[in-house]
Amino acid sequence: MSGKNPYVVPPKTKLPTKPYTIRLEGYEKPLVVDPAELPYAEPGLPGSLLATLLAKGIEIDHACGGVVACSTCHIVVKKGFGSCSEATDDEEDMLDEAPALTSQSRLACQCVPDGTEDIVVKIPEWNRNMVKEGH
Ligand code: FES
Repeated sequence: MSGKNPYVVPPKTKLPTKPYTIRLEGYEKPLVVDPAELPYAEPGLPGSLLATLLAKGIEIDHACGGVVACSTCHIVVKKGFGSCSEATDDEEDMLDEAPALTSQSRLACQCVPDGTEDIVVKIPEWNRNMVKEGH
């Protein structure tokens, strides 16, 4: 499943204009995101961490297809949180359903970095089995 959820208002996002990196906690190689390759579209918002990670070969659960109707794409943005698009009320409502919520939790499908900071992401343990390093 993917597409758009007619019941949610998409957040304002800004795509990066310079390269930035995403480092996944527990994985050695950082992923370089080149703005020339963006936006990676669906599932999730264009340029979202979900779309970007999937495009880079990192499998991460996304049961609803990135339309803010589950919380399976829950991640924790440990660094670079301030460079990410703001969470909407719809995202926060859905995050409330996620286990082990933190103040830096986001739905990967709704979190769009603007590239002004490098990002460090923790994928929660219960989702780790779904993740494989494909690069
Ligand atoms: S994949 Fe369902 S909310 Fe992100």
